[in-house]
Formats: sequence, C-alpha cells, structure tokens
Amino acid sequence: MNAPLTPGMIKDLNVPDYVRNARLIAWVGDMVALCKPERVHWCDGSQAEYDRLCQQLVEAGTFKKLNPAKRPGSFLACSDPSDVARVEDRTFICSEKQEDAGPTNNWTPPAEMRAKLEPLFDGCMRGRTMYVIPFSMGPLGSPIAHIGVELSDSAYVAVNMKLMTRMGRGAVEVLGDDGEFVPCVHSVGAPLAEGEQDQTSWPCNPTVKYIVHYPETREIWSYGSGYGGNALLGKKCFALRIASNMGRDQGWLAEHMLILGVTSPEGRKYHVAAAFPSACGKTNFSMLVPPAGFEGWQVTTIGDDIAWIKPRDGRLYAINPEAGYFGVAPGTNTLTNPNCMASLNENVIFTNVALTDDGDVWWEGMEKDQGRLPAHLIDWQGKDWTPEDAQAGRKAAHPNARFTVAATNNPALDPAWDDPAGVPIDAFIFGGRRSTTVPLVTEARDWTEGVYMAATMGSETTAAAFGAQGVVRRDPFAMLPFCGYNMADYFGHWLKLGEQLKAAGARLPAIYCVNWFRKDADGKFVWPGYGENMRVLKWIIDRAENRAAGQQTMFGVTPTYGEINWTGLAFSPEQFATVTSIDPGAWAQEFHLHDELFTQLAHGLPPALTATKAAMAQRLEALAH
Ligand code: GTP
Ligand code: SPV
Ligand code: MN
Repeated sequence: MNAPLTPGMIKDLNVPDYVRNARLIAWVGDMVALCKPERVHWCDGSQAEYDRLCQQLVEAGTFKKLNPAKRPGSFLACSDPSDVARVEDRTFICSEKQEDAGPTNNWTPPAEMRAKLEPLFDGCMRGRTMYVIPFSMGPLGSPIAHIGVELSDSAYVAVNMKLMTRMGRGAVEVLGDDGEFVPCVHSVGAPLAEGEQDQTSWPCNPTVKYIVHYPETREIWSYGSGYGGNALLGKKCFALRIASNMGRDQGWLAEHMLILGVTSPEGRKYHVAAAFPSACGKTNFSMLVPPAGFEGWQVTTIGDDIAWIKPRDGRLYAINPEAGYFGVAPGTNTLTNPNCMASLNENVIFTNVALTDDGDVWWEGMEKDQGRLPAHLIDWQGKDWTPEDAQAGRKAAHPNARFTVAATNNPALDPAWDDPAGVPIDAFIFGGRRSTTVPLVTEARDWTEGVYMAATMGSETTAAAFGAQGVVRRDPFAMLPFCGYNMADYFGHWLKLGEQLKAAGARLPAIYCVNWFRKDADGKFVWPGYGENMRVLKWIIDRAENRAAGQQTMFGVTPTYGEINWTGLAFSPEQFATVTSIDPGAWAQEFHLHDELFTQLAHGLPPALTATKAAMAQRLEALAH
C-alpha cells in the first residue's frame, strides 16, 4: 500500500482554507502518494483560473487560440490519433458479482482490477500537475444534485469540466465538513521522467487504456485517454454508469436523454425526454428550430445528453445534471441547427475540427452555409487540406470532432434548465439510426410495450465510439455503453417504476419510437430531419391532446399521412410510405435480433417483455398471411 503521509506531503497538498472535508483531504493525500504528481492545484472554478489554464494550454501547444475577431475566447485542440472517441472495449463495470454487471458490460472482479490498476497509477502523474476538480452534477445544493471530485493530470480536462459542470469552490462548499462525493481519478497515463518535456501536444497512453467503475463503492478510475467521455468523468462515467446504480437503489432514472420544452401557439407547454444513441441526433433535437408552417411553436433546451429523472407526486421530473454541451461538430450548420451555430460564436473549446487560414474553425457540413469548400485548411491532424482531399474522401475534421460550450451560450436555453425541481415529463422518445426497417414514428400502446420498444432498439454504430461504424447493434434505451449494472435488471427497474406510478394513480408519459434515418435505394436519407422533426413532435403533442387518432400497426400506433402538418414541405404520400412502411420480411429478421438480445439477457429478463414479444410476433404473423 501507499506510504503514510508525512507532514511535508500534507503541506504540498496546497489545500485551500475553504476546503474542510476531511475525507476529501485524506483521499487527495492518498492519491498524491500514489500518483506522485509534481504539484497539486485545487480548481476554484473562477474565470481567472480558466483563462490562466487556457493560456498555459496555448503555451504547451495543446490549444491554438482562434482569431478573436472571428471566434472570441475560443480555442482548438487536436488530439492524438489514437485518442479520438470513447473506448467501449476498455470500459469496465467492476461489481463484486459478475451477474450484477450483466452480459452487456465488460467485467473484472474488483480486487483483480485494483491489482491491475495499482502499478499503472503508481507514479502516473510524475512531472505533471494534479488538478483537484470538485464539481456538482445538477444545480449547486439541489436535493437531486450529486457532488464528484475528479483528480486529473490534464489541464484540458480541468477547463472542459469548467464548461461542462458546476465546477470549483461552490461544489466544495456544498460538501462542507462531511458531505459525500464520488471520487474520480483520471490520468492521461504519460508520466514524465526527471527533466523530461512532453514530445507531443496531446499526452496520452496510445496503447494502455482503462475506464473503470466500481459501482458498489461508487468510484471511477480512468487511465490512458484524455478525450471526451473517457476523461470528463462527470459525464458518462458518473452521470450515467454510477448514477444508474444510484437510481436503481433509490428509485430514480439516470438516462442518456435530451430534455426539451415545446410550447404550442396557444401557450401550452410540454416536456419531452428523448434517448438516441451517441451521434444520433440528441443535441440537434434539443435545439430544434420549428420550420415554416409552425409559426408560434417554440422549442427550448433543458439538456442535450443526460437526464436524471425522479418521481414526485405521481409524475416524473427531469433535470439536466450537466452545465454544458460536448457536441458533435460535423454536420452542424445554420441550415441544420442555427441555435447550435449561434451557441458556438464565442468562448468555445473545439477538439479535432479543422483550422482555416484566417484562424477560424471548419468542419464537414459548413460548406452548406458557405456555398463552397474552403480553398485550404489545416486538418485535425495538422496536415494541409484542399478540396481535392474532399474528393478523395479525406475529411478535414475528425467525424467525432466536438465542441465544448457552456449551456448559457445556447439562445434556445429553457428558463427552467437550472431549476432544481426539474421539469415534468409528458413523453419519452427512443430512436436509433436505422437505414431500413424501423418506421418514422410509432407510439407504444402502453408502458410495457414502450419499455419493449426501447429495450429492443437497434442502431448503426457511429464515430462516437472507437470501432467499426455503420454496424447495426442492439442498443437498449441508447444505454448499451452506459448502463452501470445488469441490463435485464435495468429493464425491470423501468417496468417497476411504471407500476409504481400507475398504482399511485398517475398518468404515465407516453412512449414513442422514432427513426430519422431511413434511406432510399440510392443511399440518401428520405426524411429531411433536423427542424423538420418538428412535424413528428407536433403529432406527438396532438396525440397528447387527443387530436390525432393515428392508425394501429402490429407495432403500435402511427400517424396517417393526413395527420402530419405538411405546410412548407414538399413530402409526398409515396415518400411518407418509404419512411413509415413495415416490411414483414425485414421485421421477421428484426425479431430474430430481439430474440438474440433476450437470449443474451435471459437471466433476470422480465417475463412481461417476452410476453410482449410473443404478442407482436403473432400480429406480424397475421400480417404476413
Ligand atoms: P452525442 O453527443 O454523441 O450523444 O450525439 P447526439 O445524439 O447529440 O447527436 P447530434 O445531435 O450531435 O447529431 C449527430 C450527427 O447526426 C450529426 O452529424 C448531425 O448532423 C446528424 N443528425 C442529427 N439529427 C439528424 C436528423 O434529424 N437527420 C439526419 N439525417 N441527421 C441528423
Ligand atoms: C456520447 O458518446 O454519447 C457522447 C460523447 O455524448 S462522450 O462524452 O465522449 O461520451
Ligand atoms: Mn451522448
């Protein structure tokens, strides 16, 4: 074990006088003894500190300051090519029992994992600064918020955490003398020898990566990566994998969902939470600008990626535990998402986008705004790029290039985004990226059918995770990479919550399944998507207000062509058929994939789901004859 702390080491901890939490100080002391950083910096979360760290990152070459006339207060970081996305095969749920992690998670016994990590973390911060990053997931002091403290040897992580969470002194004050926090240890895994300087502007460990969660002790240990969800530990690691465990134990939900408010011209306001897998449209849907034909409708953002949802007085209330957006840049432009583009005008950290000759940023999709490709760029790997490269298929921005920005930059931010009470949810939407099979929108007839739809959802893999792309896989509730316990138990948790609300006499939120991504024979998206998704959202509101009857399919309830408002969009009944048709052959195959999932999850799978499956298969059978 670690050597006991000597008084000299305590002094080197540099503990600010406002920190009084004994457990926090002792833990930082232990981690300093283990990781052996050169120095310790406690982040206070101030603007001055943020500016200083950004300047330091510029001097280290990690940040390029963008042209202040074009992009004030903004920076570009370009990562190591080995470190561009989440690493699902290196992500572990280390519960005491394997069955608690379940068959969809990588599992190693905690003692074995600790024995593996101990030598890796021993001395891992040599030559670097350890940043002590206290943060609150959720509004400071809110009864639904939780505190975490991340120790990281990356200044890039510290400044990103400032934008993504309520970070700094305020979180420490909430902790007080004896408050609880989730300890998160992060190292890029690139210690420096005595006198050695970084040879790279993105230190990381290109070959050894571990993203480890101990659900019982609520700890996170991350090694080797400096990117996104691997390193900003408040996000997927805490707010989903650890929080899903808290939610199971305490009767609430931690979900990979955006939260939006939608207000009708008559001034009636609804709240919708939607789960789409990574890079499948959450940020875009949460900032949707209603198209022509929807005058008087307004969509406002509460959150773009994660929702914590708690039952109260017979309803489900959702908060966004985050304070910023870590969003996908490519594909974003003023035609697809004007609110997002406006959010990116100033005070942004860009990662892995391209640099223009006048010191601004560029990514694929921006040519739609500009009417042409730029004549020259520096791509995300620092190489020259010209339109010829576009022709050869070489992208200037990495497909998982991202922006980090405070939520307060968003012009469509909902006034209640920061309300500790949360917003009441009227509907849940689940949607994958499917070029075939799954119709534009289907309403589940009841909670159980909705849970079935969400549980069996499939989606084509994207650049948000390392590995093959465009491969259809089951992604239950868009939580496959994020559920911190047994997925079959998680289905049971959803069903149980529905039962409890029903027993309390509540009207449960309706559940929908959507797919914006059906393609035609030429491989083009048929549905225009983005702002036009308002047409589907309006139908969902119409259903809530009993203004659309819909039609029954073997799968649920879908809109007729005439029930969608088509004002301002030329979309024929034939095109509508292309995105809504249910092909019995394709669905027979789809059900095989549901079967495979249920076989994998057989241990503990709620019988209600197998029964739902049987009823659907029977209706499909009838359809085929
Ligand atoms: P994560 O941050 O990884 O969780 O992603 P996300 O779910 O927030 O996805 P995001 O909104 O960033 O969109 C990902 C990609 O899908 C971008 O390239 C978008 O341009 C594209 N996209 C989003 N919505 C639509 C849509 O309605 N139709 C089509 N065709 N593409 C979309
Ligand atoms: C996702 O992959 O779902 C993201 C990006 O939101 S990351 O923060 O890297 O997890
Ligand atoms: Mn996400």
